Amino acid sequence: MEITGHTILISGGSSGLGAACVRRLVSRGANVVIADLSEAGKTLAESLGSQAAFAPTDVTSEVDVQRAIALAVQQFGGLHGAVACAGILQAERVVGRDGAASLAAFQRVINVNLIGTFNVVRLAAEAISKLSPGPDGERGVIVMTSSVAAEEGQIGQAAYSASKGGVASMTLPLARDLSRYGIRVVSIAPGVFETPMMASAPEAVRKSLAEQIPFPQRLGQPDEFAALVQHAFENVMLNGTVLRIDGAMRMGPR
Ligand SMILES: NC(=O)c1ccc[n+]([C@@H]2O[C@H](COP(=O)([O-])OP(=O)(O)OC[C@H]3O[C@@H](n4cnc5c(N)ncnc54)[C@H](O)[C@@H]3O)[C@@H](O)[C@H]2O)c1
Repeated sequence: MEITGHTILISGGSSGLGAACVRRLVSRGANVVIADLSEAGKTLAESLGSQAAFAPTDVTSEVDVQRAIALAVQQFGGLHGAVACAGILQAERVVGRDGAASLAAFQRVINVNLIGTFNVVRLAAEAISKLSPGPDGERGVIVMTSSVAAEEGQIGQAAYSASKGGVASMTLPLARDLSRYGIRVVSIAPGVFETPMMASAPEAVRKSLAEQIPFPQRLGQPDEFAALVQHAFENVMLNGTVLRIDGAMRMGPR
């Protein structure tokens, strides 16, 4: 799909990987709607001018996501794609010093990372399905964010890994479901990237993770993730798959 002149909703676009997608896609001529809980997206949208808008959104809310999509249609004339980047990180051992892990915390991670992603995908896909098809019968593209933790969850990552494994697993069935509308679905599984989410981890953890990356031996830059998102939009043969971007990292138990 051509990016220029098309409109893409980016959940989690206020920060980190999502914000890098916002900047890159706008610089390539897209219109973007930043759908995020954090008001930082408002400032980011204002700094980018008429190609960007902010919709205060909790991805777990049907009404909020519908409102964000309505804003895309009203302000830019339609929706052609979505990048689901909103997510939260949580770590807790299954049995710790204080007993069994919190069920509420597990449910919250699944609710935001997995159910929130599905909520964005289903409503964005419905809006995209109403467009007339472009070349190759393509109507739009949806990119979801999984994680290498879907395959190599570390100690304490049962909830996070389950949520990202869910995103990876639903990639193919979503692509199959939406193929009749010419909508592609691709997931990206990042290794460790330099974002506010990672900055919240202790320095020792970040150092240990960086040392586990064979090459380049550093954390990924958010724009390197955004470059792959751009490619997923542009390459019509990419569909129903999960792409790792991790410098050959395979995470150890801790
Ligand atoms: N940074 C990494 O190393 C890394 C690695 C693998 C996967 N990921 C995934 O990439 C995505 C982006 O992560 P990041 O590192 O940019 O994190 P980040 O914390 O910098 O950004 C996440 C954004 O999501 C928003 N958000 C959280 N809950 C939300 C909700 N309920 N509704 C709407 N917005 C919500 C936050 O406000 C924030 O702006 C996440 O899904 C994360 O799990 C990140």
